Amino acid sequence: MRRKLVVGNWKMNGSLAQLKELGAIASAARNSPGVDVAVCPPFTLIAPARARSAGLAVGAQDCHGKDSGAFTGSVSAAMLKEAGARLIIVGHSERRAEHRESDAAVRSKAEAALRQGLQAIVCVGESDEERRAGRAVEIVSGQLAGSLPQIGEGEGEIVVAYEPIWAIGTGNTATPQDVAEMHAAIRAELGRALGGRGGSVRILYGGSVKPDNAAELFAVPDVDGALVGGASLTAKDFVPIIEAAAGAGR
Ligand code: PGA
Repeated sequence: MRRKLVVGNWKMNGSLAQLKELGAIASAARNSPGVDVAVCPPFTLIAPARARSAGLAVGAQDCHGKDSGAFTGSVSAAMLKEAGARLIIVGHSERRAEHRESDAAVRSKAEAALRQGLQAIVCVGESDEERRAGRAVEIVSGQLAGSLPQIGEGEGEIVVAYEPIWAIGTGNTATPQDVAEMHAAIRAELGRALGGRGGSVRILYGGSVKPDNAAELFAVPDVDGALVGGASLTAKDFVPIIEAAAGAGR
């Protein structure tokens, strides 16, 4: 049985003042022992967030694929771990688009996170145009085959996040049927790539997850949690999503 995992992605939002939201979020996490909860603020807030979030994991939104070196402006997985991160989101569509990250780059970032014993959340998702052309499953399966790291014994955990690009920040969510179809395709691809271990990889859905649609999404087979952007910025919106995940696990 895979535990539900709910991850907040603050993107380039937040401030020291906004960390006050973490109090109620951490307390909801402690009250939901069957659910893993994490928040990924910008790099500069990881250490101060860590100090305020007993019961809550703190993560990062990106890392470099190398452990150290002449890479101005970049941050390594080891540095993020030292700051208190337990997980790293890699290959978010905003990074694939704005920073032209290839599947190979995403894979090297995921491997860097795993080398540090961290969770790597590998994001995949199709565009509106690709879905309308009937190519959604093909595109996502291809991204996954190119970006999935190989896991070795004793290394960190791989998590996959399916985030249709057209659902991110738009208020449009994929239908439960579309999500079920895609998560089943991802599960099959995980089996091809990782063999028996593919069955234990958690698959998150992301894209306009809100308090009023979370329970319906968590009830879909093979939806093991959510990657939440906008609704993770305040306890008012994020806590009911954590509670919905707890309810789905009962
Ligand atoms: P959203 O973002 O919940 O604001 O749609 C999700 C994400 O990009 O991870």
